[in-house]
Amino acid sequence: MIEVLRGMRDKMFLEALKTEYICENAKNIFKLYGYTPIYTPLVEHTELFTRGVGKTTDVVSKEMYDFQDKGGRNISLRPEGTASAVRAYLNAGLHKSSPNYKCYYMGNMYRYEAPQKGRYREFMQIGVESFGIKSAIHDAEIVKMALDLLNSLKITDLEIEVNNIGDFRARQEYKKDLLKYLEPKKDKLSKDSQRRLIENPFRVLDSKDIKDQEVVKDAPKIYDYLDDEEKKYYSDFLSALNNFGITPIQNPLLVRGLDYYSSIVFEIKSKELNSTICAGGRYDMLLEILGNTKTPAIGFALGVDRVSLLIDDVVQNSKKVYLAYNSDTLNYMQHIAQKLRENKYIVEYDYSPKSFSSQLKKADKLGYEDILILGEDEKNKEVVTFKNLKNKEQETITLSEYIGRKL
Ligand code: HAM
Repeated sequence: MIEVLRGMRDKMFLEALKTEYICENAKNIFKLYGYTPIYTPLVEHTELFTRGVGKTTDVVSKEMYDFQDKGGRNISLRPEGTASAVRAYLNAGLHKSSPNYKCYYMGNMYRYEAPQKGRYREFMQIGVESFGIKSAIHDAEIVKMALDLLNSLKITDLEIEVNNIGDFRARQEYKKDLLKYLEPKKDKLSKDSQRRLIENPFRVLDSKDIKDQEVVKDAPKIYDYLDDEEKKYYSDFLSALNNFGITPIQNPLLVRGLDYYSSIVFEIKSKELNSTICAGGRYDMLLEILGNTKTPAIGFALGVDRVSLLIDDVVQNSKKVYLAYNSDTLNYMQHIAQKLRENKYIVEYDYSPKSFSSQLKKADKLGYEDILILGEDEKNKEVVTFKNLKNKEQETITLSEYIGRKL
C-alpha cells in the first residue's frame, strides 16, 4: 500500500472537523475587524522567498520544497503566506491605488522539517496581513484579534511575548555588538548556532538549545539600540495592549525566525504544548525589498495543527434529526428532509429502510436523539411523530411546530 508522505497527514473525522471549526471561527472574527479573504497560489518563484523571507533563515536555507518545473523555472511550495500576500498586493498595484488593505488566508504551507508532534512538513496556517497602517493601536488590535480567535476556541492557557526589534539601522548596530559579545563564547554554543553566528547572529538568540540560551541570556538587548521614536512606539503598543486587557511578557530576546520583521514582533505560546501557536509582527521593510515602496505592514499566522491539539471537541450544529419511514412514505420523507435542510437541520435516513425499530436503532448508533417517524398516518394528515430517544418524549405535531420548538 502506498503511504502518505512523511510529515504529512490525512485529516478525517474529528481532526477534519476541528480544522473546519477553527477556520469558521477565524472567518467570523476576522470579518468583525474588516479583513477580507485572499487566495494565492501554493507555488511561487523561489526568489520570492529567498529575497522576502531571507536566504539565511532556516525556513529558506534548509526547509524549502524547491524544484524546477517543466519549463525550467525555479519554484517552491510556499513555506509561509506573508511573502505571497505581499507579492499579490504589489502585483495588484494596491500600494498606489488603495494602500490600506486587510486580508486573511487559510491554507497549507510546506517546510521540510524533522516531524514531531505539532510539527509537520505540510501544515495549515491561518494568517492575516494588514497593509498601509503604522499605528501602535492597530498592532495591539492585531494581537487582540488573535486572542479573540483563541478565546472563541476556549484556549486560554497562553503566554503573549512581545518585543520591538527596531529598524535596519538599529539592528546593524546591535548586530556588531552582539557579535562582539558572542564571538569569544563561540565554543560554548551549539554547532547550529556556531554556523548561525557567521550567517545571521540574530538566529542565535531564538535558538531552542539550552546551551545557547545560557550564553545568550546576558547578551546585549536590542531595546538599547532603538531610537526614541521606536521606544515610544513600543510603549504606546504596550499601553494599547493593556487597554485591551492584555498583559504581555516583554521578551528582549524575541527576534522571530524570518528576516523580514522590524519594530513590533510577538508570539503567542501555549503553556500546555510548550510551543508557539501564533506568531507575527511588523514587516515594513519587506515591501521596500520586494516592491520598492514604503508601505508599512503587519500580520500574524496561527498554526492550525497545533491549535487543533488544544481542542477536544467542536461545537456542532445541534439541530440534527433522523427520519424513519417506509417504502410507501418515501416521497413524503423526501419532502420533509428538504424542508428541514432548508431550515439548517442535519438530516439523515436509511436508504433501504426495514422496520421502524431497526431505523430507531440505527439513529441511536449514529448519535441522533431526535427522530421523526413518517408513516402512512403522518403522511395522510401531513404531520410528523416526533420521538426523543433520550427523554422518551413522543408527540404528533406539524413540521412547522417541530421546527418552531427548536428555534
Ligand atoms: P512562523 O512563526 O514561521 O511565521 O509560523 C507561524 C506559526 O505557524 C507558528 O507559530 C506555528 O504555530 C505554525 N507552524 C510553523 N511551522 C510549523 C510546522 N512545521 N508544523 C506545524 N505548525 C507550524 C510565519 O509563517 C509568518 N508568515 C507569520 C506572519 C504573518 N508574520 C507576519 N504576517
